[in-house]
Amino acid sequence: MITSSDTLQTSQTNPVISTLEKNYSNNLESNYTEKIEELDQNFNYSSNSNAYWSEPEHSLLYGTPLYEQASLSQKLALNHLHWVLFYKLTADSETELIHYNTVTADCLMSVNSDYKMLVDLLGHETDQERKHIHTFYKVNYQTTKFLLGKKALINSASDQVSLVKQKSFQFSDYLSSAANFITMMMLKDKEQSHSENLREVKDVNKPASFASNGFFNGLSGKSNPSRRQFFSDNWRTYPFLAANFYAVRYMANLALKNHEFGIHKYYKKLQKDNQFIPSPTTISHYHFLDEAFHTTTSLFLGRDFYKTLPKPSLYEKLIANLAILQAQHENLNAISGISSNRFLNDNDAIVFLMKLLQSPVFDMSAPEAIDWIEKCLCHEHEGFHINLKVHNQLLSSLRKFAEQLDYLWPVNREMRVMASGGSIKKAIKNNIRAFKQFSRAV
Ligand SMILES: [Fe+2]
Ligand SMILES: [Fe+2]
Repeated sequence: MITSSDTLQTSQTNPVISTLEKNYSNNLESNYTEKIEELDQNFNYSSNSNAYWSEPEHSLLYGTPLYEQASLSQKLALNHLHWVLFYKLTADSETELIHYNTVTADCLMSVNSDYKMLVDLLGHETDQERKHIHTFYKVNYQTTKFLLGKKALINSASDQVSLVKQKSFQFSDYLSSAANFITMMMLKDKEQSHSENLREVKDVNKPASFASNGFFNGLSGKSNPSRRQFFSDNWRTYPFLAANFYAVRYMANLALKNHEFGIHKYYKKLQKDNQFIPSPTTISHYHFLDEAFHTTTSLFLGRDFYKTLPKPSLYEKLIANLAILQAQHENLNAISGISSNRFLNDNDAIVFLMKLLQSPVFDMSAPEAIDWIEKCLCHEHEGFHINLKVHNQLLSSLRKFAEQLDYLWPVNREMRVMASGGSIKKAIKNNIRAFKQFSRAV
C-alpha cells in the first residue's frame, strides 16, 4: 500500500510517477476484480445459454452466408464462441504479461529506487490478470465443452491439422493448456503477497520460454522461442526499452478496448432496459473497467516516462522499433471474414471451422463443411466489411498514439503494416490460396 509520504517523495522526482500513483490508488479503491471473481465462482453455462452475450454482430461468422441461414440456437452458439475466442486470446496475452510486467518493473526501479511504487503497481496489476485469466478459462472451458462436445477436447491423430500444418484455433491444445493453468492457479495461494511478486521479479534469469500465442508473443503463432527470449532480455535490461514495452502493451490495451467497449455498451443497454444480463457480459463489463487502470499505466509509461530517461542509444531505438513492428506484423497484418475483431488471415482458422461445422452445433458432413468454408472465406460478404470498419477504428487510435512517440520510424508511426493489411481483396486472395491447399490435402 502506498503512503502519502511515499507519494510526496516520488512525485517530486518525476511528475509521471505522481500520475501513476493516483492511478494505482484509484485501482486499489475499486472492486472490479472482486466482482469478476464472484462471477467466476458462480458461473454455469446452462444459466446463460439462452441469451446473447454481446451484440449479434459480435458473433463468429456474422455477415457470412452461413450465418444468414443459421437457426437461433446456432446463432447463440456462434455468439458465445466469439466471446470464447476473444477471451482465449486475451487470457494468452495476460499470461504473457505475468512475465513481462514483473521483469520490466524491476528494470524501471533500477533507474531510481524511489520508483519502487512501480513494482507494487505492476505487481497488483499482475495479480488482477491472474484472476481475469482464471475467469476466462472457466467460462471458456464450460462453454466449449457444452457446445462443441468432448470431441473438441481430444487432439485426434487423424486430425486434418497434420495435413496442412495449421497452428491457431486449436481448441484441443488450448483446452489442455487451460486445464494445466487452472490446476496451477488452484495450487497457488489466492492472494499473492508483495514479497512474492518481488521474488518473481528477481527470478529474471529464468528463460521466457512460455509458448502462448498472445499479443506479446504474437497472435499469429509464428514467433519462436529465441525471438521471445530476445525481446524479453531487451525489455528487462534497458530502462528505455522497459518503457517501450509499455508502448506495445498500450497497443494491446487499445485492441482489447476496441472490442470490449462494445460489450460494455451492450451491458449498459441491457441494464437500462431491465433485461437479463448474462454472466459473461457482466464479466466483460467489469474487465473493461479494470483494464482502464492498466491502460492508463501503459499510456503514461509508454508515452511519457521514457522522456524522463537519458536519450536512447541507436541500439535501443532499433530494438524499440522492431518491437512495435513485430506487434503490427504478428497481430494486425490482415483482415478476417469470420470475426469482427480478428486482424489476421483466416487460413489458420480453417481447421477450427471444420471442427465447428462437424460439431453438434452444425452437425455437417465433411464435404458439406468444406463447401461452406469455401462460401464463407473465398467470396466477399458483409463480414469482411464489418471487420474492415473495426480495423480502421483501431488503426486510427493506434496512429494517434504512435505519432506521439518521437523515436518511431515512419512504418511504425503510421502503422503502415496494419494499414496495408486492411484490404478485403488481399484477404480473399489469401483465403482462396489457403482453401485450395486445404481441400487438396483432405
Ligand atoms: Fe485483464
Ligand atoms: Fe490488463
